[in-house]
Amino acid sequence: MLGLLYFIAAAFFQISAWGLSSTVIKQGLEKGGVIPDVFHNEFEPESEIRITYHMTKQLRMGMEVTAEDTKNPPHVWFSKINDESQYTLIMMDPDAVHRPYLHWIVTNIDGQRPASDVENEEHQHTSYSAPAPPAGTGAHRYVFSVYEQAQVNQTSFLPETFIDRSEFDVAKFTEENGLRLVGALYMVQENLTPSS
Ligand SMILES: *[C@@H]1O[C@H](CO)[C@@H](O)[C@H](O)[C@H]1NC(C)=O
Repeated sequence: MLGLLYFIAAAFFQISAWGLSSTVIKQGLEKGGVIPDVFHNEFEPESEIRITYHMTKQLRMGMEVTAEDTKNPPHVWFSKINDESQYTLIMMDPDAVHRPYLHWIVTNIDGQRPASDVENEEHQHTSYSAPAPPAGTGAHRYVFSVYEQAQVNQTSFLPETFIDRSEFDVAKFTEENGLRLVGALYMVQENLTPSS
């Protein structure tokens, strides 16, 4: 009887992936070297990000994905920190030749409805650029990060046209815009086409 209860409890906790501990998230980022390559050792995740490409493929930390999988923008959810806060989503490639390469920025995301705001045209700051790692450059990590904004309905962001996607200065952008890192998740893609 007790065995059965444990089984039910275990099954329940597995289904309820929403609720990964900060420690588990941090260990995943460390395992892939995202900490310390992209984020400081001091970073303590407070939010869990969930990303699904074409509804069937929910990303796990460090999951390998294909160019076909990631052609279109994913669905993004994350657990909010404060009801009153808005959030910014950034996607970048720290393994690009001119690294980090900026893939996507979405701003003023309401923590109550992240999925619909991330898809909303009005919230796109820098349009989604699908991963396209060149052949022969090895595995690239694509890092999604969520930041809590200092302000809601922030309009002070430098427009996309003034931002260089190559060698994007993440630290400068987040500092200038009052963005506090609260969550991160990464996936991996490699172009295995033989380089000529
Ligand atoms: C932010 O913008 C939305 C939509 O324009 C508006 O409904 C809301 O009241 C604004 N919130 C604040 C705090 O300004």
